[in-house]
Formats: sequence, C-alpha cells, structure tokens
Amino acid sequence: MNTMISNNEQKTYDLGYKLGTLLKKGDIICLTGDLGAGKTAMSKAIAKGLEVDEHVTSPTFSIIQEYMGRLPLYHFDVYRIGSVEEMEDLGYEEYFYGDGVCIIEWASIIEEIIPKEHLWIDIKRDDHENIRKIEMKATTEHFKNIIEELKKI
Ligand SMILES: Nc1ncnc2c1ncn2[C@@H]1O[C@H](COP(=O)(O)OP(=O)(O)O)[C@@H](O)[C@H]1O
Ligand SMILES: [Mg+2]
Repeated sequence: MNTMISNNEQKTYDLGYKLGTLLKKGDIICLTGDLGAGKTAMSKAIAKGLEVDEHVTSPTFSIIQEYMGRLPLYHFDVYRIGSVEEMEDLGYEEYFYGDGVCIIEWASIIEEIIPKEHLWIDIKRDDHENIRKIEMKATTEHFKNIIEELKKI
C-alpha cells in the first residue's frame, strides 16, 4: 500500500497525468472513494496523459464512454450497475481484456469481475476541503514501477 497526499486538485491532476503517460495496452485502473472524492478529476487527468483531446465527462448515466488517445480509453462509472449480469450485457470483457486502457470508477461494486492485474486507487477526503489521501495498490511489477514514478511527483 502506498499513500500519497494531494493538497489540491492540481496535485491530483499531476499524479493522474503522469500515470496516463505511463500506461500501456490492457491496463486496468480501479478508482474508489466517496462521491466528490476526485475519481473523475483523476480520470480526466489520466485521459490527458493518454493524449485524449476530447473532453472527458463523468459516464455515470452511460456506464461507459470511449475515447481515443495514444491508446483507446474506456472510462467506466459503474455506480448505477446493479449486478454483474448488467456488465455482461455491456460486453465488458471486450473492454477489460481488449486493446486499450480501462478506468473504472466505483470499481469495488464489480470487484468479482475485476481482472487480477490492476492498479487500485482509493481516494479519501480529509476534513480539509482540498486535501485527499490517495492510496495505491499494485498487483503487478508494471504498476509497482508506476507507483515509484508517481511518488517522485
Ligand atoms: N485534492 C483534490 N483532488 C481532487 N479533487 C479535488 C481536490 N480538492 C478539491 N477537489 C474537488 O473535488 C471534486 C471532485 O469531484 P469528482 O472528481 O467529480 O469526484 P468523484 O468522481 O469522486 O465523485 C471536484 O470538484 C474537485 O475540484
Ligand atoms: Mg465521478
């Protein structure tokens, strides 16, 4: 477990942007944290780091939004997913085991179908308005190396 502190939105952006520059095909980024924690803020930054020019919005109502950058980006928000079956109806495997990068907001809701190889990022609000505790857990060397890079920021 690696804990980083973000004192403001810019710091979260810097972390996400750098992360985006380091991602490769097939990478899965899981994001958890309460409403307003900064999951979408982080996702937008990752998208920029992946060279996505399009404006990234929260896919809460659509569950998934696709973007094209240096790699395809599949941005999920599974907050409204009621069961894993709904994910199957969406054809999630095509995305999770596909040719791009997946970012999954509220990933804990579908934990049972999250591929073993992933980077898990949990964002916690602090009592102070703009402070966030960002905890990262890597299950592969690739993601461990990424965390080491992010710690330098
Ligand atoms: N350090 C920080 N990191 C990320 N967001 C922050 C930070 N400080 C304040 N914010 C604000 O918190 C909100 C996060 O919203 P959002 O990213 O939509 O959250 P979520 O997707 O987790 O519901 C934004 O309004 C953002 O400006
Ligand atoms: Mg969000």
